[in-house]
Amino acid sequence: MRRREFVLGALGTGAVSCIAPLPAFAAPLAPNAIPYGTAIRVDMLSEDPLYRQAVIDYCQVLVAEGAFKWPDLHPSRDSFVFDQADQLLAFAEENGMALRGHTLAWYGAMPEWTETIASREEAETELVSYIETVVGRYKGRIKSWDVVNEPLAEFPKPGALIRESIWQRHLGADYIELALRTTARVDPDVQLVINEYDVEQPTDLGRAKRKAFLDLVRDLKARDVPLHAIGLQGHLRGDMEIDTSGLTSFVAELKSMGLAILVTELDVIDNLLPGPEAELDAMVAARAKTFLDAIGAAARPETVITWGISDRYTWVPIWFSRDDGMPNRPLPLDSDFKPKPLMQVIQDFTRSPS
Ligand code: G3I
Repeated sequence: MRRREFVLGALGTGAVSCIAPLPAFAAPLAPNAIPYGTAIRVDMLSEDPLYRQAVIDYCQVLVAEGAFKWPDLHPSRDSFVFDQADQLLAFAEENGMALRGHTLAWYGAMPEWTETIASREEAETELVSYIETVVGRYKGRIKSWDVVNEPLAEFPKPGALIRESIWQRHLGADYIELALRTTARVDPDVQLVINEYDVEQPTDLGRAKRKAFLDLVRDLKARDVPLHAIGLQGHLRGDMEIDTSGLTSFVAELKSMGLAILVTELDVIDNLLPGPEAELDAMVAARAKTFLDAIGAAARPETVITWGISDRYTWVPIWFSRDDGMPNRPLPLDSDFKPKPLMQVIQDFTRSPS
């Protein structure tokens, strides 16, 4: 039985309204705790009551796994569809959670019609009007946006730092500035975030990404382009060490430029980790702890979000299924919503006093 059910059951139904809901298996959050949350599959909130309850039990902040992406919101040039997005925002608000926006300018998950964008002017018009419509609609209710997602090339090289995309094709790197300035104009109070992955790797790739990211941010800052925070996705490779000193100095450098740090998409890709389950779960938790501690050594992140909450719903097998046929176990709860060591790591980190 979950702790919350136990507490409510023991008190009897008459007492239920007198006590505040407790996060499962844990003491109430201290005021200075870092908000924890998950990416959400909106359809599962209504289809899977256990999923919905786990989200309510554990989360203070949410983000959509889809729902707020271009194909969901703007499936054709002439239409916007807000049903799922509105539903998720209503759920977050009903349950006292914040909702982050993900994402406005990304190379991935673009609807087919955007391939017909043919000129710089057209690209500028479409990007600006999308941001005006979407950020405008949720103004004051979504307070933090991944304005630009994954802007860096897969392996950034001098002269080729920015990833190919519809926006980059027509606007070059200027699309980043355009997206940030437009979002700031539409909602001056919103937190503007650039979100990226692979910066923790102890490889040439990891070093190249950190350098390219810092170069990009320095350039934006030098030109007074508004930017408030960096999202470190944290899709960690279970079989790869974290470059702890590289990551800590990277975060320290970002902090020295006045930027906040968010952990936005944490999970541990476990396809190359050996079983059995208990050992695998311990390795997953240890990898995430090393990552969080290396960030925490330089800055206290404003939030820690995992890319899903339960192994029942994870993107990982799309690209990283296991050769031994075992289901992936990248997330804090198992597929029956039982907490794994990763949840303990996250709770210890987010609830530590500083
Ligand atoms: O909704 C359709 C469904 O109708 C259909 O039956 C099914 C068949 O494949 O596809 C469903 O759409 C999928 C959608 O996720 C919803 O599950 C798309 O094919 C699939 O491409 C899409 O993948 C998402 C991907 O971003 C692209 O948007 C993943 O769930 C999501 O986890 C992933 O998230 C990204 C972040 O946005 C950025 N950082 C990396 C992260 C992981 O790749």
